[in-house]
This record gives sequence, structure tokens and C-alpha cells, in this order.
Amino acid sequence: MRPTAIAAPLLAYCTACAQTPPTDDSLYRAWGGEAGIRAVMEDFVPRLFTDPRTARFFERVDRNNLVARLTEQLCKEAGGPCAYTGAAMKPVHADLGIGKRDFNALVEILQQAMDARGIPFPAQNRMLARLAPMHRQIITPVSDSQQHP
Ligand code: HEM
Repeated sequence: MRPTAIAAPLLAYCTACAQTPPTDDSLYRAWGGEAGIRAVMEDFVPRLFTDPRTARFFERVDRNNLVARLTEQLCKEAGGPCAYTGAAMKPVHADLGIGKRDFNALVEILQQAMDARGIPFPAQNRMLARLAPMHRQIITPVSDSQQHP
């Protein structure tokens, strides 16, 4: 056997290793992969647009874009093979005046969507734990003092 016949598959293997380091994709799989995540986002986003606690934020927002960006983001957060192509969390939410109460409302609405789509409870909690730290980039302190009690 010529040396290149051995070297070629080895090289292909090592290239793949370098490009895709092993990740824990158990949460991604528990959500049913990208299709499962998209199904939850397709349930979640219309709720955000109609829930009286959050509707005002989404009046001029492109619904399909939001579903697509959230699907990418949650896929990536869950360890799936997705790239997030949207804007960074801080600038995109900076001028919206989002308070703690608004953030908590969004989490409750996400829980409704996850329940509706049958995401197992532990997988719900694991995803929420990955999203929760983002509140620092999303809540703007001034908006809390502007809120009614
Ligand atoms: C962990 C919580 C949150 C995550 C992961 C998240 C994620 C995202 C993502 C991925 C986008 C799309 C960015 C793009 O189009 O490039 C977005 C946009 C947006 N988010 Fe959030 N978000 C969160 C919390 C909230 C909350 C609490 C509100 C308000 C109640 C909110 C309101 C909005 C609005 C109005 C937009 C559209 C902004 C625009 O198009 O200019 N988000 N968010």
C-alpha cells in the first residue's frame, strides 16, 4: 500500500477533530435537536407577541426573524451544531427598557411553550439555567424604577 493511501484518511480524521472539538450535546438531544427547538420557538414567539405582559415590546418586530435567531441561539446554548447569526444581546435589548418583571414574564411564557411542546422538566430547567445569566445583558436598571408596582 502506498503511504498516501494511509495518510489521506488520517489527515481527514485529524482535520475533523480540530474543527469539531467534543461537546456535550445531551441537552440538544433532550430537546429533540434543532427541529425540536424550532417547534418550541414557533410556539413561544406568538405567545410573546400576544401576552399582555410582553406584547408592547414586539409591536414592530419581525416574527420569523425572531424564531430563526432564537432557534440558532438555543441550539448553540444546548450544545448543538448551530451558529448564532443574530445581534449581541446587550445592544439589541439596550433601548427597550426591559425590567426584571418583563424578564420573568418572558421566562414564564417560555415555560408555557416548553410545557405545550412536551419538553421534559429536567431539560426545561437545564435550558433556563443557561439562559438565566443573560439577564445581565438584557435588563436595563433604569427600567425597574420606571415600572408600576
Ligand atoms: C434570556 C432571555 C432572552 C433571550 C435569550 C433573548 C434573545 C433574543 C434574540 C436572539 C433576539 C434577536 C436578535 C436579532 O434579531 O439579531 C432578540 C430580540 C428581541 N428581544 Fe430578546 N431575548 C431575551 C429576553 C428578552 C426580554 C425579557 C424581552 C422583553 C420583554 C425581549 C425583547 C426583545 C425584542 C423586542 C427584540 C427585537 C429587537 C429588534 O428587533 O430590534 N427579549 N432577543
